[in-house]
Amino acid sequence: MGVFRRAWLTVASEFSWRVPGRPQRLLAAFSLAERGSMMDMLAAVEATTRRDMRRKYFIHALDEGRHARIFADRVRDFGQTGRADAALEDSGQLVEAGIVGGKTLFERFGEAKFLAFVYVAEADAVEQFNVYLERGLPDPATQATLRTILKDEVFHVAYSRAEVEKLRKEGHAVDKMCRDLRMARVWERYLRFSRDVGTFVSGIWLTILYFVVLAPFRLFARTEGGGWQPASAPRADRLAAARAEG
Ligand SMILES: [Fe+2]
Ligand SMILES: [Fe+2]
Repeated sequence: MGVFRRAWLTVASEFSWRVPGRPQRLLAAFSLAERGSMMDMLAAVEATTRRDMRRKYFIHALDEGRHARIFADRVRDFGQTGRADAALEDSGQLVEAGIVGGKTLFERFGEAKFLAFVYVAEADAVEQFNVYLERGLPDPATQATLRTILKDEVFHVAYSRAEVEKLRKEGHAVDKMCRDLRMARVWERYLRFSRDVGTFVSGIWLTILYFVVLAPFRLFARTEGGGWQPASAPRADRLAAARAEG
């Protein structure tokens, strides 16, 4: 594991698991990511021309669907979950997160790069879960959930790594593919982080704007008297003009 990635996961895990309300949101994000992986895998089942891989993709899809449910159940175990629960219910969240959109991952990447992606993403997930578990985060029940899912993820890493090795022997540039995919994932993470910072900072500015610019107008404002108001009488010249037209 890279030193930077480990340092980042360590810092982020403190924020994600210890700040009230964040664990539910992180678990909901995991559930959505697992659901997105399930869809990618089902699309691969349909698109692949390799009979040997079709079965593996299908088993993988079933695993990811089960993980999505396990994480969603864990979110609901927390009780009142607010935004996390709303995210779980909102199917549009998948589109917004860019997990599903237009072409499937398999169609965009082709089989070799898709397998490299599966290997890179699964290996990242295993590293991430291991950091949480080594740090004893978050609570024993969620740790048990992570351990259950980790067994499947280790299997996903093993089979995708074996496939990547086969591709290497066939002459595919898998090292470059993995490198490019890792860079793309770092960039996507940066964009997600930037969006979160942007949302947070714009919230602060809008609050300041409300109190500093809008609130003082209240001091000068008068409420209008209620009830019926007398209609202003029509001016005589307008009345005469209207009669002349008629
Ligand atoms: Fe998974
Ligand atoms: Fe997985």
